[in-house]
Order: sequence, then structure tokens, then C-alpha cells
Amino acid sequence: MSSSTNNPLTTSLTTTEADQIASLHLIADSIAQQRQLAARSMLTHPAMLSCLTFSLIITYFFTRTLGTTTTTTGEDTWPYLLLIIWPACIMLYLLAAAHTTHPYLEKAGRTGTWVWLWRGGTRYKHRRREQSPSPSRLASSSSSSFSTSKVGYSTPMRKDLHNAEKHEEDEKGRGDIMFVTKYQDRVIGTLVLRIIHTEEELWGHVRDAVVREQLYQYQQQYTPSSPGTGSCQPVVGVIRAWTVQQHLRGIGVGRNLLENAVQICRERGVIGPVFSDCHANEVLGLPVVCNGELLRRERWAREVLERVKSEVDGAV
Ligand SMILES: CC(C)(COP(=O)(O)OP(=O)(O)OC[C@H]1O[C@@H](n2cnc3c(N)ncnc32)[C@H](O)[C@@H]1OP(=O)(O)O)[C@@H](O)C(=O)NCCC(=O)NCCS
Repeated sequence: MSSSTNNPLTTSLTTTEADQIASLHLIADSIAQQRQLAARSMLTHPAMLSCLTFSLIITYFFTRTLGTTTTTTGEDTWPYLLLIIWPACIMLYLLAAAHTTHPYLEKAGRTGTWVWLWRGGTRYKHRRREQSPSPSRLASSSSSSFSTSKVGYSTPMRKDLHNAEKHEEDEKGRGDIMFVTKYQDRVIGTLVLRIIHTEEELWGHVRDAVVREQLYQYQQQYTPSSPGTGSCQPVVGVIRAWTVQQHLRGIGVGRNLLENAVQICRERGVIGPVFSDCHANEVLGLPVVCNGELLRRERWAREVLERVKSEVDGAV
């Protein structure tokens, strides 16, 4: 799967270790960059700037009073005190931003690893299956029972077994599909896609019940018999990371990666893709003053994905 022949940029699936390591570095770098964005949002937030201004004014009056009352020679010492205290206040302000946004650095360290690539991906692993499936899922189950019986799975237990086996295969490392975009043999963009076969794992990546319900309905509507999977559950593509090297953003590399991800999902009869709620560049639960720009980007990324999906589906 290559994006272009004359273009120096090529997008392809990769399984080579060197590309995977380069991709992991790229992803880790982009998380570290998120820290800068979060810190900038915090430092320039009106509430934080008001706090800083207020503390500078308070220290001004405090220092002036202190400087005037402690002088014995009659000389005013408060301007010198202020020269020390104001930079200290500003330094504290910067340190507070660095400290608050530090979790992004920790996450970058955890993410750029093989463990993240092959085993990790969601914080919500330990959940039992839902007890009361919705009507649409019941309908979906019954329709797929019929179809799966044709391919030899006679009981729901066997279907679950099949799903579990597939899930295990994914856990062994065959589940994640990695696209890379290269420029002059250098990885400049990457997208990590995981194919989810079980409801439990889907729950771990898509926490919004409405979105999950939409996926079930889509499965029922467009792929009622889940060809080739023998599954009564939606097989969903979940994007775990989508990153382009910082100085090459905004020229279409990211969109091209998304198009490739959508196309491979269509080719394999997989629903989606959707962004995982625990994707590499998720917005961490820091104070609200840090999140403004990052939330805007998250919304924008989801909008772009929807646009790309409708374009690819329209072109099919
Ligand atoms: C997200 C990212 C991969 C996009 O890659 P990119 O190469 O810059 O994207 P493209 O140039 O292909 O642009 C794709 C679309 O997004 C739009 N876009 C690009 N940057 C944007 C920005 N900062 N804000 C809003 N829209 C933007 C483009 O106009 C384009 O829209 P269009 O196709 O409808 O014209 C890249 O910005 C990145 O690596 N960001 C850091 C990691 C990250 O935040 N990942 C997203 C996880 S949800």
C-alpha cells in the first residue's frame, strides 16, 4: 500500500523493527510536545495570568512596606528586594507549569516502548462482559448466529472461543497494524491501528456507550454476517496513535495516513476506524487550564477522521 510513485513521500505498512522503533520515537516525541502545549496553555490562561499579576502586586506592596520599615540609614531598600522577589515569583510560576504538565513526560517514556506497542493500549482492562446487551446487539447476535453456523460455529460458546483465540493472537502481537510515511528513507509519520475482536477490549478503547452502540448498529446494518470473522461482535479498527514529525505537519501527511487506515479497514471488512480513548496523544486529566489547546486538537482530529471516512466510503 503505497501513496504515490513520484512523490518522495511513501506510506506503507511496516513490520520491520527499525521502522517500528523510529515510529515509537516519533510517538514519544509528540507526547513530549504535548507537554509544551499544555504548559503554554497554562501559562497564558487568563486565570493564571491574573494570579501572577495579583501576586506581583501583593509582593510589591509587601516589599515596599518591609523595605521602608527596616531601613536604618534612611535609604530605600525595597526596590532591591523587589528585584529578587519578582523574578522568584515568575520562576515559581514557570516551575508550577513544568511540574503540573510533567505527566506528559512520564507518559512519553511509557509509550515509546515495545510494551506499549504490543501489550498496552488501554487503562480499562479488567472488566467483565456486559450482562444485558442492547436490543440491537441481540438482533446482531441472532443474525450472526445464523451466518456463523454456516461457517461451522454451531454454538455461541464456540463463537466466543473463536473470538478469544483471535484476541490471543492480537495479544501476541499480530493485532497492531503500523503504517509509516517515509521521506528519504526516514520515518516522518506513523499511525498505529489495532483490530479489536472482542466486546471487552472494545469497551477498553471506546468508553462512550453511544459510540459503541453506533458501531453495533453499523455492524448490523452493513456487515450482518461478519464475513470471514465468524463473530457476532463488531470487529472494529481502533487508532492508537497518529503522529507526524513536527516540522512536516500541515502538508497532508497525516491525512494520507488516515486514508490508508480507513482503506485497510474497508478491505478487511472492519468497522471504523475510531480513535481509542486511550490513544497515545490523549488529553491527560490535568487541571483545566492546561487542556484548552489539546482538547481543541483532539476534537479537530476526530472531525478530520470522520471527513476522511466519509470521503473514502463515498469513493468506494
Ligand atoms: C495530528 C497530526 C498527525 C496531523 O498530521 P498533519 O500532517 O499535520 O495533518 P494534515 O496536514 O494531513 O492535515 C489534515 C487535516 O487537518 C487540518 N489541520 C492540520 N493541522 C491543524 C490544526 N492544528 N488545527 C486544525 N486543523 C488542522 C488540515 O487542514 C487538514 O484538513 P483537510 O484535510 O480537511 O484540509 C499532527 O498534527 C500531529 O502529529 N500532531 C501531534 C500528535 C497528535 O495530536 N495526534 C492526534 C491524536 S488525536
